[in-house]
Amino acid sequence: MNTIGEIGIKELASEYGTPLYVYDEQKLTANYHRLKSALDKYYTRNSIHFATKSNNNIEVLKSFKKAGSRVEASSPMEILIAEAAGFSGDDIFYNGNYESVEDFEFISSRSSMKINLDDISSFDRLFKATKELPERISFRINPGVGRGGFEGITTAGSDAKFGIPYEMAKHAYRKAKEAGVKRFGIHMMTGSNNLEPYYFAEAVDKLMMIAHDVFSELDIAPEFVNIGGGFGVPYYDEESELDVDLMARLISETFIERCQKYGFGSPELILEPGRYLIANAGYLISQVTGVKDSYRKFIGLDAGMGTIARPSLYGAFHRIKAYDNSNPEERVNICGQYCENSDILAKGISLPKLAEGDLVTILDAGAYCYVMASSYNSRPIPAEVMVSSGKHKLIRRRETFDDFMNLYNF
Ligand SMILES: Cc1ncc(COP(=O)(O)O)c(C=O)c1O
Repeated sequence: MNTIGEIGIKELASEYGTPLYVYDEQKLTANYHRLKSALDKYYTRNSIHFATKSNNNIEVLKSFKKAGSRVEASSPMEILIAEAAGFSGDDIFYNGNYESVEDFEFISSRSSMKINLDDISSFDRLFKATKELPERISFRINPGVGRGGFEGITTAGSDAKFGIPYEMAKHAYRKAKEAGVKRFGIHMMTGSNNLEPYYFAEAVDKLMMIAHDVFSELDIAPEFVNIGGGFGVPYYDEESELDVDLMARLISETFIERCQKYGFGSPELILEPGRYLIANAGYLISQVTGVKDSYRKFIGLDAGMGTIARPSLYGAFHRIKAYDNSNPEERVNICGQYCENSDILAKGISLPKLAEGDLVTILDAGAYCYVMASSYNSRPIPAEVMVSSGKHKLIRRRETFDDFMNLYNF
C-alpha cells in the first residue's frame, strides 16, 4: 500500500515523520453521507451526533460539521473541544458516567445541550451542582443485555458499569419530573462494532418497549430517542461491511411502528456513531526499526502500544500493509518499542519480507486510536495529518520534550 487519498505514503512519512496518523477527509465525509442518506430515506426526523471520544481532533470535528453532523461529547473537556470546533447548544449531545459534582457544575452551565444521565445518583449530583435544572433530560438505560464485537466493547448487560437497569428507569424519570424537569428523552448504548443489521432493530424494539413502560405511567412522551452508536466496520478481510441501508430500514420501521403504537408522535431519532464514521478513514504510518529472528520472527515498529493501544488493551486486530508488496511473504509478529511484553500489534500474520527502514500502514486507525495514545516510556504522542482533494496538512503536531517540560511550569 503506497498512497492515502492520492498522496504518497513516502511523501507523508518524509515530511511529517513516523509514527504518523493520517485521515482522509473524503472518506470520512462519504461515511457520514452514506449513513445520513440511508436514514433520511426511511425517517427524516433523525440526527447523527459524531462521538468525539472516538477521535477528538478539532479539524476532524470541523470536517464532520461541514458535512452536516452534530456531535456527542462524554466529558467537560470534550464539550469544550466540540465548542472549539464550532458546535453549540442542541448540536451537542452530552453523555457521561460517574461525573463529579464539579463536572456537573460545568455541564449545567450548558443547559441547552442534550444532557443524558447515566444513573439516578448522577441526577442527585446534578441537583447538588445546580438548583436550576435543565428543562430537558434523558437517561441512559441498560436494557439488561448488550452486544459488542468482543467483551471489552460490550456496554450493557449485568456486568456493564453503564446505564440504569431498566427495572429502575421509572424511578429515575419520576424523580426528574417531580424535581421540575419538563422535557425528556431516552438513551441506550449496548455495545460497539456490531455488523449485524438485525441486532440494531432488536435493540430499538427493546428500548421502545422500556420507553412505553416508563413514559405511559408518568404521562410524559420522549422528545428524542437516542439509540447510541455501535455501528461496526470490518477489521478483518473476511468480514463484510455493515449493510447500512438495511440497518436504517429495519430500525426506522421498528421505530415508526412503536411510536404509532405507543402514541409517541414523531420524536427525533438520534444516532451517535464514532467508529462507523471515522475508523476506516484513519491510517497509522509506521517505520520498521528492528527485525529480530528469535523463537518467532519479530518486526519492531516505531508504533506500539503507546501509539495504538487497542491490540494490547483488549486484543483488537488491525490489518497491517507493507509499503512494498514485491517481496515473498513470511509469518511474523509485529511489535512496538515499549517495555511491555503485551506491546504486540499482531501475532503470526503474513507480510511481505520487511527490513529496517521499510514503511508499513496500519489500517482502520481513525477511531479509538490517537485518542488512546499515551506517552508511556516517554515516547511522544504522534502527529496527525489530514489529506483532502490531493492536498495534505498537519492538523496536530507531534509531542515534544518541551511539551513534557511545560507541565512543570506552574
Ligand atoms: C455513549 C456512547 N455513545 C456512542 C459511542 C460510540 O460508539 P461507536 O464508536 O461504537 O459508534 C460510545 C462508545 O463507546 C458510547 O459509549
